[in-house]
Amino acid sequence: MSNAAPIAPVADRSDAPLHVALIMDGNGRWAAARGLPRAEGHRRGVDALRRVVRAAHELGIGYLTIFSFSSENWSRPAAEIGDLFGLLRRFIRNDLASLHRDGVRVRVIGERDGLEPDICALLNEAEELTRNNSRLTLVVAFNYGSRQEIARAAQRLAREVAEGKRDPDTIDAEMLGQYLEAPDIPDPDLIIRTSGEQRLSNFLLWQAAYSELVFVPMHWPDFDKAALEGAIAEFARRERRFGGLVAKTAS
Ligand code: IPE
Ligand code: IPE
Ligand code: MG
Repeated sequence: MSNAAPIAPVADRSDAPLHVALIMDGNGRWAAARGLPRAEGHRRGVDALRRVVRAAHELGIGYLTIFSFSSENWSRPAAEIGDLFGLLRRFIRNDLASLHRDGVRVRVIGERDGLEPDICALLNEAEELTRNNSRLTLVVAFNYGSRQEIARAAQRLAREVAEGKRDPDTIDAEMLGQYLEAPDIPDPDLIIRTSGEQRLSNFLLWQAAYSELVFVPMHWPDFDKAALEGAIAEFARRERRFGGLVAKTAS
């Protein structure tokens, strides 16, 4: 990445979603279709990620959340889990400096307890190094599960009630949301899932309440700036109502 061209200036796109979240799915099928091992699909998936981070900034996106490893992905064979963790290590080691140079702030959501110490150290390093950057926030959902995140929030609130620090009557949706992992980050406007699957797979269940969902048939290693632009164009055609009514333009 070190010899990559600098990120282009932010485009003036008022209809661009502020926060795009990506379920990067289909690496295995991409590889299988080419007679390659699944690990090669994951490796090519990291190349796609690099392209898309760059494109996200060029398209005026403020927050990009990526689903990299789910709480349920532990059910895969140990060798594949090892490949995925190896790629995360390599991604941070190789790309952190250039992400930092490009003004990207890295945040990490997901359960850190139980991760290997060197992975935790890399995640902390990425967050610490980039904490004052503000051009694009890259939220890495690693060892992440939305139900687990909500359960941890409930547990913290319950503990405060048990300790007499909180009146249960003060707990509402807004407050519970503040106990999730990155309460300062706005909810995703657009969630894109590649590979043709049409489900959330335990990703941002709470935060997706009013997200627009776009499912694209291509596998993640093939995803690029044009595909991101296509999804954003679809987003721009949607009519968001948030439970209310949309004012009709004069006909
Ligand atoms: C996405 O690709 C990567 C992760 C889930 C970590 P998959 O590995 O799920 O690929 P498919 O869905 O089996 O094709
Ligand atoms: C979702 O993809 C998790 C990530 C992209 C990291 P999966 O491939 O794990 O989801 P399912 O099993 O098809 O629902
Ligand atoms: Mg999958």
